[in-house]
Amino acid sequence: MTQMLIRGRLLSFKRAPHSLTDTDSYAYESDGALLIDGNTISVAGSYGTVKAIAPEGIEEIDHRPHLILPGFIDMHLHFPQMQVIASYAANLLEWLNTYTFPEECRFVESEHAARIATHFYDELLRHGTTTAVAYCSVHKTSADAFFAEALKRDMCMVGGKVMMDRNAPQGLLDTPQMGYDETRAVIADWHGKGRCHVAITPRFAITSTPAQMKAAQALAQEFPDLHIQTHLSENHEEIRYTGELYPDARDYTDIYVHYGLLGPKTLLGHAIHLSDREADVLSEAGAVAVHCPTSNLFLGSGLFPMKSLMRREKPVRVAVATDIGGGSSYSMLRTMDEAYKIQQLLGERLNPLESFYLMTRGNAEALSMAERIGTLEPGTDADLVVLNAASTPAMRLRMETVKTLGEELFLLQTMGDDRAVVETYVAGKAMKREIERLQDTDN
Ligand code: GUN
Ligand code: ZN
Repeated sequence: MTQMLIRGRLLSFKRAPHSLTDTDSYAYESDGALLIDGNTISVAGSYGTVKAIAPEGIEEIDHRPHLILPGFIDMHLHFPQMQVIASYAANLLEWLNTYTFPEECRFVESEHAARIATHFYDELLRHGTTTAVAYCSVHKTSADAFFAEALKRDMCMVGGKVMMDRNAPQGLLDTPQMGYDETRAVIADWHGKGRCHVAITPRFAITSTPAQMKAAQALAQEFPDLHIQTHLSENHEEIRYTGELYPDARDYTDIYVHYGLLGPKTLLGHAIHLSDREADVLSEAGAVAVHCPTSNLFLGSGLFPMKSLMRREKPVRVAVATDIGGGSSYSMLRTMDEAYKIQQLLGERLNPLESFYLMTRGNAEALSMAERIGTLEPGTDADLVVLNAASTPAMRLRMETVKTLGEELFLLQTMGDDRAVVETYVAGKAMKREIERLQDTDN
């Protein structure tokens, strides 16, 4: 097995930070190193201690003075929406009907799906994201392309063939039976292959008939370990229409409860406009509300009350995500900058330690995968991001006055993007510079 030593400033979270001065919540090594054994981290600590136990003549990669963190995790995005980003629409439903649904129809073509999959993973890795939870299109071809590329790159990815059988163009509809059969086929073909995980993915209540919800329920019962992902309460018009389609439900959340879709592995995109009752239900089920700040601002959907949901008597589990292509950036740094601003508008504070916790260990915990990803703990997968807080002239100038780790993280979050990502490692393998080298050759 290849061994390698990666040197730099290490930062990894042990738990959620309570405040900006909560130094017990993380491990920081100003001159640290990771001993990589094949695709996992075998030792993490100060350079001196790791070097002392590393074999003589081991390959060393020196990233000083940069920070080394666990790779970012993006908890919600749409693989077939790469060519939807930056589409001009008044609101969610107009955006879906005008741009998104027509674009997703193209993913019936396996060549197109394979081409976009290559770009998709290139873009994630260029931005330091090593794990993502994605919606494919309704077509099995899109899920095949999505997982084939993940397998090729040995990436830990969660994804699902979308189930949708109404309120969309014909080319984007399955039926309850097809949705069930094809999801089962995707599970059989991909789940557990390499680092691939299949999620049961009814798009949202508007595009699934009650019969299809029942099919999703059957899948959830047959495969209780799988993640379930869907959308919830993103936009007022969406909520109103959903209520019309499911007149017997108490509220939007109640629909998913009714079909047995709410549990600790359920990831609910957006969940902005919840009543107290709905927040209680999410809390009791242990379901995760996935905050997508750039998307919520771009589509004018609303301000997600993240901090207040987290500190309720019955707290709601929260994760963070880009929501490409409703979201406007692949960067989790840009995402947390917008998350910070949303909390500012709500009169709340989101401190930079919390932000970096959320992008790494927090999202891994929300995925129930923190024993494998999201930290630099020995025995976990060597998925890493290397960050440079002085990656642009303006950031370099600002760094001259930065005195603390918290200030450096806040600068990274406020001004950083793909340029701040020096390197991204997947299962111990450096990926970003190689991707950019190949892209340069193509141009
Ligand atoms: N609700 C249902 N589908 C989608 C989607 O593709 N993007 C967003 N932002 N919301 C949705
Ligand atoms: Zn979405």
